[in-house]
Amino acid sequence: MSAEATKVTTEPGLSVPAAPSAVIRIQGLVVEYPARGFGQSATVAVKDLNLDIYQGEVFGFLGPNGAGKTSTMQVLLGFQPPTRGAAYIYGVDVREPIARQRIGYLPELTYYYKFLTAEELLRFYGRIFRLPRAQLESRITAVLKLVELEPVRKRLIKTYSKGMQQRIGLAQALINHPDLLILDEPTSGLDPPGRMQVRELIHRLKTEGRTVLFSSHELGEVETVCDRIAIINRGELVTVGRVADLVRQYQMDLERVFLKLIGYQPQPQP
Ligand SMILES: Nc1ncnc2c1ncn2[C@@H]1O[C@H](COP(=O)(O)OP(=O)(O)O)[C@@H](O)[C@H]1O
Ligand SMILES: [Mg+2]
Repeated sequence: MSAEATKVTTEPGLSVPAAPSAVIRIQGLVVEYPARGFGQSATVAVKDLNLDIYQGEVFGFLGPNGAGKTSTMQVLLGFQPPTRGAAYIYGVDVREPIARQRIGYLPELTYYYKFLTAEELLRFYGRIFRLPRAQLESRITAVLKLVELEPVRKRLIKTYSKGMQQRIGLAQALINHPDLLILDEPTSGLDPPGRMQVRELIHRLKTEGRTVLFSSHELGEVETVCDRIAIINRGELVTVGRVADLVRQYQMDLERVFLKLIGYQPQPQP
């Protein structure tokens, strides 16, 4: 175990002493993928990332493609072991399966079994989380209403539009009544009304006191829904803070702050 990890208790149920309200604590995280073939080098996807996310925050995780957002989330979910460093959720080391119990997760790419109806899919996930049978049906109805798919609950998912498929993904992420939601690009590929619906849903989750971590490169929506953001580039954290503070500090809108911090150079006009 690394030096950082020993500082923090990993016993389930106990919080991290230094910051009791940190829902997510990432300490010195490095994620490295081994070289795939001869002559190839390893990819360092995340480089020494330190980040705390607090109870009730809507936190935007920004970065260009390949920045390391998905890799970080995969560590939080226990799908990818940290190469170095550690991460804790509610004070529990993410390598312990129990850490996942209070999380809802929307993957970047959703591959659901398309020959199921929405309600069948949710029943399947509800059973994975061992929701008591008596609660399962009412919970399915509640989440379908929340994502506005209740009227089409008996339709096969393969007949759903992209926006509807994204919303059934969100319903799946919510089925276990999670306190923490980790959403990997929840609005990618959605049209403006679809994006607005997801934004409203995130807002509603916030008013219910849930913590939301989501990745995006839609800067406009990040500006409207996030309490704080982090920008990562090539695996490194380049800034973290409140949107309003960053805009004030740099005297430019969030999109320009983002482009500046990731080192984008405008091409000279001929
Ligand atoms: N399973 C993997 N094996 C090897 N390299 C990977 C794997 N997943 C991601 N990468 C690489 O790690 C880097 C970060 O990727 P990723 O975490 O998906 O970034 P983002 O989600 O910000 O687009 C990229 O260079 C990507 O090519
Ligand atoms: Mg990604």
